[in-house]
Amino acid sequence: MTDLPAEILRVKDLAVEFPTEDGVVKAVRGVSYALHEREVLGIVGESGSGKSVSSLAVMGLLPRGARVRGKISYRGDDVLKMSARKRRDLRGRKIAMIFQDPMTALNPVHTVGDQLAEAVLAHDLVPRKQALARAREMLDLVGIPQAEQRLRSYPHEFSGGMRQRAMIAMAVINNPDVIIADEPTTALDVTVQAQILEKLLEVKDAVNAAIVLITHDLGVVAGIAHRVLVMYAGKPVEIGDTDTIFYRPRMPYTAGLLGSMPSLETSGGRLRPIKGAPPSLINLPSGCPFSPRCPLADTRCHGEEPALAEVDEGGHYAACHHWDQLAAVADPTALFRTESEPVT
Ligand SMILES: Nc1ncnc2c1ncn2[C@@H]1O[C@H](COP(=O)(O)OP(=O)(O)OP(=O)(O)O)[C@@H](O)[C@H]1O
Ligand code: SF4
Ligand SMILES: [Mg+2]
Repeated sequence: MTDLPAEILRVKDLAVEFPTEDGVVKAVRGVSYALHEREVLGIVGESGSGKSVSSLAVMGLLPRGARVRGKISYRGDDVLKMSARKRRDLRGRKIAMIFQDPMTALNPVHTVGDQLAEAVLAHDLVPRKQALARAREMLDLVGIPQAEQRLRSYPHEFSGGMRQRAMIAMAVINNPDVIIADEPTTALDVTVQAQILEKLLEVKDAVNAAIVLITHDLGVVAGIAHRVLVMYAGKPVEIGDTDTIFYRPRMPYTAGLLGSMPSLETSGGRLRPIKGAPPSLINLPSGCPFSPRCPLADTRCHGEEPALAEVDEGGHYAACHHWDQLAAVADPTALFRTESEPVT
């Protein structure tokens, strides 16, 4: 007997490629994870690491021409083998997505109420009046005051924070099991960011959903995610529960992301950004893709890409030949200490 929540979503060896004039972009190169009921999984990595593409693949929203391999299962059903109709039904009813920029997802020429009602009517044969009542209920839930009047507003009449609240309402209106939130607060200022994240968690609990929270900022997942998956150059390079990732990273890239967070105590509040840029996904360097930027890189790293391997009990995996060296240092972010920084 186990009292672990049931698994809802499983992604296995997901790979996505885009053939382009310059060559094949290997955007996602083998992503695997499982998501359980009501769980919050953070997916973190720099721009271009494949966070959005891997989620669009789950949603079935990749552009035409994208090549997808691997397996995506929703409650045991093979998503990539579903009919287009069944997939559309899954999207919106069971798996919903919140985008960074609500203006790309909200239609400027329809009222917020009409769009929310349409989201209900696309999946349920209910009278329009009932769909609008549900829309109103959702605006209340996401903390939009005077919901009845706001149903008649157009998206441009909302502030950035309000629009993102409306997007959350749209995502949860059909009671999904999974919400994929792709940088849901990046475009907002810091105070509004915190309010929106808090609201997202409240709403998630109200509808009993799990969340995949995508961000480039590890700080966003602290205190929110149960587990964190760190991506680099299209691959997961570390996965573990949130405390483990923050206090016992075993992949230098994770340590670099931690050092890029202004508030981290272990670096004495110092910023230690990772120098250099992520590699081209058309011409990946040989060996570990992080090797050109990694302070621990040696000949082995330049020649052989490390596989994701278990480094500790409790589901902690890292892709690094020298994770044990990182385990031996008290402050992993010190790897990225700048030359001018005094050694303390
Ligand atoms: N339609 C496409 N055609 C070609 N390349 C693409 C396409 N869509 C995405 N890519 C490339 O795939 C890679 C991964 O992109 P993705 O959008 O997943 O990154 P990301 O981690 O979400 O970054 P960000 O933090 O900037 O949102 C990038 O190099 C991107 O340029
Ligand atoms: S495998 Fe080598 S280059 Fe890659 S992260 Fe580990 S130490 Fe750095
Ligand atoms: Mg993205």
